[in-house]
Amino acid sequence: MSLPTHIAIIMDGNGRWAKRQGFRTRVRGHEVGVEALRRTAQSCAELGISYLTVYAFSEENWARPKAEVDALMKILVSSLKKEMPTLMEHGIQLQAIGKLHLLPKSAQRELNEVKEATSGNSNLILTLALSYGSRQEMLHAAKALAQEVADGKRTVDSIDEAAFSDALYTADMPDPDLVIRTSGEHRISNYLLWQISYAELLFMPVLWPDFSREHLEEALAYYASRERRMGKTSEQLNEKSA
Ligand code: IPE
Ligand code: IPE
Ligand code: MG
Repeated sequence: MSLPTHIAIIMDGNGRWAKRQGFRTRVRGHEVGVEALRRTAQSCAELGISYLTVYAFSEENWARPKAEVDALMKILVSSLKKEMPTLMEHGIQLQAIGKLHLLPKSAQRELNEVKEATSGNSNLILTLALSYGSRQEMLHAAKALAQEVADGKRTVDSIDEAAFSDALYTADMPDPDLVIRTSGEHRISNYLLWQISYAELLFMPVLWPDFSREHLEEALAYYASRERRMGKTSEQLNEKSA
């Protein structure tokens, strides 16, 4: 069975989960969502997936009510503190992408500590997209490249796909092969727009806090069943493998 090297997940549906369970606020959904992430990262490490990149907080999410944003930041800090043993036990390296300087100082500090402590792990690279927006990321890259041209460090002609990819937050990663969005929404919400241009997309009705090993395996089976033609014809692909 062909496995994706890189899975990207839009972890959606925490608020609806909390509401359906009868909790007064959406926060409980975010807390239980952390458990779903722990399970999923552990499973990916066990299954031999190399990269897992999860959308944890979008740049647009700053517009949510202050109480929810504050609660999310608190959950981020406490989870980073709590999850270190799991990351070490499963050989998971933590990374983060996004406008990290906009996060509270305590979250930045904790992120740096966990990144540093897990930097020698190599089973799975788990990347948290935090204060992340893809259009903003691409603008940032375009400006950085323009500045290099203005400074005489590169020519306009040297800006090719590889150079642009290298100017994104995801420079060191291969592009995602599979994108999973939970909660039944069929949209990308400003996530990794450049990087997912040839990814397989899977939209699942399950709400993120309920995402289990079985859902992951269902997604992997879906991925394995797809023919990734990358612009070619089915016949061309079959000739090659024959
Ligand atoms: C995803 O769940 C988590 C974040 C965006 C931080 P939501 O909070 O968007 O949950 P729904 O979509 O309202 O159910
Ligand atoms: C996308 O979910 C961001 C994360 C999962 C962190 P949202 O719930 O914020 O997306 P929209 O606004 O419904 O598209
Ligand atoms: Mg949502």
